Amino acid sequence: MFTLLLLIVSFILSCTNPTMATFPCPPCGRNPVPYPLSTAPTCGHQSYKIQCSAGSMYLDALNASSYPITSINPKTQRIIIQPASITPNTCIATDICSEGIKLDSSLPFNITSINTILLMNCSSFMLDVQVNCSSTSVCNAYISYAKSAVACRNRILCCDFTTGRSKNAFRIQIRPDRCMAYQSFVNLDLTLPVAKWPEPGLEIEWALPQEPDCILPVDCRDLKGSRCLPVPGRVGQQRCFCRPGGPALGSYYGTMSK
Ligand SMILES: *[C@@H]1O[C@H](CO)[C@@H](O)[C@H](O)[C@H]1NC(C)=O
Ligand SMILES: *[C@@H]1O[C@H](CO)[C@@H](O)[C@H](O)[C@H]1NC(C)=O
Ligand SMILES: *[C@@H]1O[C@H](CO)[C@@H](O)[C@H](O)[C@H]1NC(C)=O
Ligand SMILES: *[C@@H]1O[C@H](CO)[C@@H](O)[C@H](O)[C@H]1NC(C)=O
Repeated sequence: MFTLLLLIVSFILSCTNPTMATFPCPPCGRNPVPYPLSTAPTCGHQSYKIQCSAGSMYLDALNASSYPITSINPKTQRIIIQPASITPNTCIATDICSEGIKLDSSLPFNITSINTILLMNCSSFMLDVQVNCSSTSVCNAYISYAKSAVACRNRILCCDFTTGRSKNAFRIQIRPDRCMAYQSFVNLDLTLPVAKWPEPGLEIEWALPQEPDCILPVDCRDLKGSRCLPVPGRVGQQRCFCRPGGPALGSYYGTMSK
């Protein structure tokens, strides 16, 4: 048994087969969990934790909020989560306690630049920030159509913006002096009538895991066949690369779930 374990470990930590560099996690219910995402301390990469509960996956955000994962694309390293809904008969998002979605910026997840965010029940403060609060904003079309946003009609302002600025890399913020509800759509075609819009979603991407840092060659002994080499373009930084100047170990990870 122990020999088998050793064999597996040396196989995992070998550069010769980087596509098998470590264990992916078992499926969550019927959903595959591609590497590096991790549902347990024994599999995946521990910087990429997600929750698996009763066959459904969730992404944890700060302040104890958690969002269902509706899809995962391991090839593009992207996840779509289901944003919070609006509390019935109010124009206040159900995640107001965490002030909306706030990802831990020390983790490798960030919000991609193809989400259209609608902000509802906003104060006039929003007129000073880079969002579209004009009467032609798609947000107005949305609140006139969506049953869940009935209470948002006739509020002072309804605005929209597209993610992608560094300010929104980790958060979609709502708070009493700004806006109190939001909705998000991935890759929204603004020419479509609201009735044809997709289900709400927020797209998040993950950065590929990096090779371990090293100072001396011995630091790379656990990653067999790798060598401690300078990181191109980063003065003074070295990592355990599998091939001199070769592609990052991380670039192989995307192929692991195939
Ligand atoms: C809109 O937000 C304000 C806080 O800014 C809140 O007091 C009010 O109840 C909200 N309106 C609705 C309809 O929920
Ligand atoms: C979220 O948590 C942080 C750290 O625990 C805390 O400083 C902050 O006030 C919390 N924010 C909200 C809206 O609860
Ligand atoms: C606001 O959005 C509408 C609809 O997409 C667009 O026609 C208008 O030019 C935008 N206004 C501003 C100030 O960005
Ligand atoms: C989000 O992460 C990706 C992948 O690591 C990176 O290329 C991108 O610059 C990040 N975006 C922001 C706004 O930080």
